[in-house]
Amino acid sequence: MSIAFGVTNQPADRARGELLAVPVFADRVLGPGADAVDAAMGGSLRDFMAESGFAGKPDETLVVPTRGATAAPAAVLVGLGDRQAVTPDALRRAAAAIARRGVRARSVVTTITQAAPAGVSAESAAQAVAEGFVLGSYRFLEYKSDGEASKLARVNVIGDRDANTRAGLERGATVAAAVSWARDMVNEPSGAKSPAQFAAAARRLLAGKGVTVTVMAEAELRAQKMGGVLGVGQGSARPPRFVKVTYQPRGKRQPGTLALVGKGVVFDSGGLSLKTASGMETMKTDMSGAAAVLAAMSALQALGVRHRVVAYTPMVENMPSGTAIRPGDVLRMRNGTTVEVLNTDAEGRLILADALALAASQDADAIVDLATLTGACVVALGERVAGVMGNRPEWVDQVRVAADRAGEPVWPLPLPREYRKLLDSEVADLKNVSSGGYGGALTAGLFLETFVDRATWAHLDIAGPARAASDDGELTKGGTGFGVRTLLELASTFEPPPRLSGGRGGSAVSKRSSPRKPRSAPR
Ligand code: BES
Ligand code: MN
Ligand code: ZN
Repeated sequence: MSIAFGVTNQPADRARGELLAVPVFADRVLGPGADAVDAAMGGSLRDFMAESGFAGKPDETLVVPTRGATAAPAAVLVGLGDRQAVTPDALRRAAAAIARRGVRARSVVTTITQAAPAGVSAESAAQAVAEGFVLGSYRFLEYKSDGEASKLARVNVIGDRDANTRAGLERGATVAAAVSWARDMVNEPSGAKSPAQFAAAARRLLAGKGVTVTVMAEAELRAQKMGGVLGVGQGSARPPRFVKVTYQPRGKRQPGTLALVGKGVVFDSGGLSLKTASGMETMKTDMSGAAAVLAAMSALQALGVRHRVVAYTPMVENMPSGTAIRPGDVLRMRNGTTVEVLNTDAEGRLILADALALAASQDADAIVDLATLTGACVVALGERVAGVMGNRPEWVDQVRVAADRAGEPVWPLPLPREYRKLLDSEVADLKNVSSGGYGGALTAGLFLETFVDRATWAHLDIAGPARAASDDGELTKGGTGFGVRTLLELASTFEPPPRLSGGRGGSAVSKRSSPRKPRSAPR
C-alpha cells in the first residue's frame, strides 16, 4: 500500500490521526509538539519517560496512551539524539522507527520535521521523513501466508503549510517508491525472475514514466556483438536480455547525458567455477545494480530531472551446464577486446564490459555503474558501505557528494596502475581474474576501466550494502535498493564534467585508446 502525505497546521494535541508521533532529544529534552502533549497530560509524559527508561536516543520509541488528553488516542515518542546533530539521515531513521512501531496504525500525524535545526532545509527534512515512513514500513510479503503488511496509509506532517515542505514530502514519496520497487525485485526469488521476466518487469515499471525502453533478446545481442553477455548467459536454460532505457526531458533541457549501467545477474551460481552452497544463498541479490538503475529511471520524470539519462542493464543467469562457458574459454567483447575467462564466477565484469562499451560509444558525458561485483569489496568496507572508483576524480567526487546527500554510505578505493598487469592473459587481451588474488575490488575496477574507452566513468561496488542482514533504520532485512537514492540525487544535480579534448567514443583514435602493453613474460 502506498502512503499519502499531507501537511496540517493544527496544534499537536488537537491534530487528528490514530497515532501522534513527537520527537524527544537526548536526555529527555522534549521536542516540538512533545511539550504540548506533556502539558495536555498534566506533566505525566515526563513520568512515563522516566519510568520506562526512555532517554531520547536514536531508534528509541515509546508508545503512550493519552486517554483523551490529545485528539489522537495514543502518542509515540521517538528519540532523535542530540538536538544540534539532527540531520536528514537522523530524521529518516526516526520516521522509519515510527513506521515500525506503529505498523497497525492507519494514520500518523507528526511534528518530526520541525525537529530539524536551521541548517537543514524544510524540503530536505520533509523528503527524509517521507522516505523513512515508506521505507520503514516496507515488507516483502509476496510468499508469506500470514504476513502482516503495514496498515499505514496516511501521514500528516504538522507545520507550516509551505510549498517547500509539500515538495519535499512528494519527492521523498517518489524516491521511496522507486527504492521499494528495487527491493521487491531483489527479494523476488531467482526462479521467478529469469532475464526475460526481469526485463518484462522493467517494462511494466517504466510504462508511462516518460522514458523509452528497448529490450534486446538473443538475436539482437549477437548482432550487437555482446560477447560477454552471451558468454555468461550460455549456460542457462533462460537466455539473456539487455534493457536500454532513455529519458529525454520534456521542455527546456540542460546539456549533458548521464549514463547509468547496472549489473543484472538474476542468479549467480558461479557457473562451472561453482560457488559453495552457502555462497549461493543470497545470489538472487546479484541483480541489485540493474534493479537500482531501472528504479531510478522510473522516477526521473516525476522529479523533473532536466538532463538526458540513458540506462544500460544486461540481464543474465550464471549457471553450470553442458553449454556453459568453461574456464579457459575466450570471449570477444562488444568493443573487440578478447577476454580469457579463467573463473566463471567473475561474471559481472564480463556483462558490464559490453554495457560500458556500449554506453561509452553512445555519447555519454559521464557514466556510473552499480554492481554487486566482488566479495573483496565487502571484506574491505563491510556490509554497509559501497566502494567507489573511477577514472576522473571530479566525477568520483560528484558521485560521492550525491551519495552523502542521499544518505547512502560510499568510500573511495583506488585503481592502481601497478595492478593492471595482474590482468594480463597468456592467450587473450585480458583475463577476467587477477593473478595473486589480493585487492579483488580494485582489479575488478581496473578490468571495467578497460571498456569505458576515454569516457568519464565511476564504478560503485555495492556487493555489501545491496542486502541488509537485519532491519536497521530505513533498511529492511533483505534487498535494500541501495543506490536508487544516490542515482536520483546525482541525476537531479548532475553537472557534466568538462569534456576531455581529443574526442572519445567511436572515433578511430579511441578504438585502441588503451593500448595493450607488451605482454609480460609468462609466469
Ligand atoms: N556476485 C559476486 C560478488 C558477491 C559476493 C556479491 C558476495 C555479494 C556478496 C561476483 O560475481 C563474484 O562471484 N565475484 C567473485 C570474483 C572472483 C571470482 C574474482 C568473488 O568476489 O569471489
Ligand atoms: Mn560471481
Ligand atoms: Zn556475481
